[in-house]
Amino acid sequence: MVAYKSKLVERIHLPSRERRERALEDAGYNVFNLASEEVFIDLLTDSGTGAMSDTQWAALVRGDESYAGSRSFDELESAVEAVMGFSNVVPTHQGRGAENVLYGSLLSDGDVVLNNTHFDTTRAHVANQGAEPVDCPVDVAHDPTADEPFKGNFSLEAARAVVDDVGATRVPLVIQTITNNSAAGQPVSIENTREVAAFADEIDATFVIDACRFAENAAFVARREAEFADTEIDDIAREQLGFADALVMSGKKDGLVNAGGFVATDDETLFERCKQRAILYEGFPTYGGMAGRDVAAMAVGLREAVEEAYITDRIEQVRRLATMLEDAGVPIYTPAGGHAVYLDAGTALSHLPREQFPGQAMVCALYREGGVRGVELGSFAFPDTDRPELVRLAIPRRTYHTEHLEHVVETAATVLEEAESIPGLQLVSEPEMPEIRHFTAELEPLSS
Ligand code: F0G
Repeated sequence: MVAYKSKLVERIHLPSRERRERALEDAGYNVFNLASEEVFIDLLTDSGTGAMSDTQWAALVRGDESYAGSRSFDELESAVEAVMGFSNVVPTHQGRGAENVLYGSLLSDGDVVLNNTHFDTTRAHVANQGAEPVDCPVDVAHDPTADEPFKGNFSLEAARAVVDDVGATRVPLVIQTITNNSAAGQPVSIENTREVAAFADEIDATFVIDACRFAENAAFVARREAEFADTEIDDIAREQLGFADALVMSGKKDGLVNAGGFVATDDETLFERCKQRAILYEGFPTYGGMAGRDVAAMAVGLREAVEEAYITDRIEQVRRLATMLEDAGVPIYTPAGGHAVYLDAGTALSHLPREQFPGQAMVCALYREGGVRGVELGSFAFPDTDRPELVRLAIPRRTYHTEHLEHVVETAATVLEEAESIPGLQLVSEPEMPEIRHFTAELEPLSS
């Protein structure tokens, strides 16, 4: 059931095919280099791209821009306490700022960090402290068609094997990312969180939850974990997050804002350490790199994110896109995750070997065909790994309607029909760090 009507609109248009061809060429066949005006339906990310509610816009106007002791910060503290159950909050400019503050306070050279799957910026911040990030996804995460409810879970078996290998003293930090963005946005069960918390306790490690998409995860728990079938979304969220010693949060996802993030913890010593580090990198601890108005809007957004009507609308929209794509014969990772549908480009463009970047070729074809911008998460984004060739279509929150999704499905179906004629790509230039090459590298089509 749709939960919104529009009060403010933004004009979009589909540039001509000729213009799209030229834009793609000018962008070096990398859609990060496209101007947003050249894009019709923008599914590059769900991060900071959603629409705020009228209540959030009202809060924005009332934002308190005081450097210290801002009333907007009090509102954020109350919201985090009410929705997530944590009393100490260190605001930051966005999620990676929170990662820098928290992981910089917890890690040192030679440490090993376990995570169901590190998101790119998490991996980079762990490595930046001289620590080694190790992914511990469950095996089924790698199976794009297995019909399992919690493919985002953390594998205790994998984690124990690492600890047996390196010794518990080298593992001071265990992270669980909910939902698991790098594993197709798959959810994590509370049962798994409970077990991971016990494991972290056993090895005397700090247990952190990356809570970017905590409300979406709670919605899956309500639908798929029998124990919580009749529990309210905010109660589920507090139950799950309550197992953690600390949270890192990007407000740009389930904070329903365009900028912002925070660390939250009940550990007073850790809180103090984070506050000091935040002063260095983010700002005074009552604004942390955000404008007071953004803090105020995030306080409202957190409460809206756990409203049943909002979260049902959100999860159902993603599921609807997945179903429509499946009905059109487009191969996708199933079941659909919470914030995106992941296309299986390896299957769709099976004529292209990995060296010719089938995922990126599909991203370019989606843009060329329908002005749709997705993102490649395969051999182009993750060189020298055996990651599957996925293309993520991330859905901004409260932004697109069914007609937009229908256009995306028609575009993907046409791309699939013409798959055989889609050429592979080769790199023309790439930056020094291979881990972040997909943001700026340039490519060109191979002549068939
Ligand atoms: N953790 C996870 C799981 C994320 O998905 C992201 C961002 C971050 C941390 C960092 O947060 O962007 O506010 O600094 N993910 C975005 C994406 C960029 O497109 O998936 P940030």
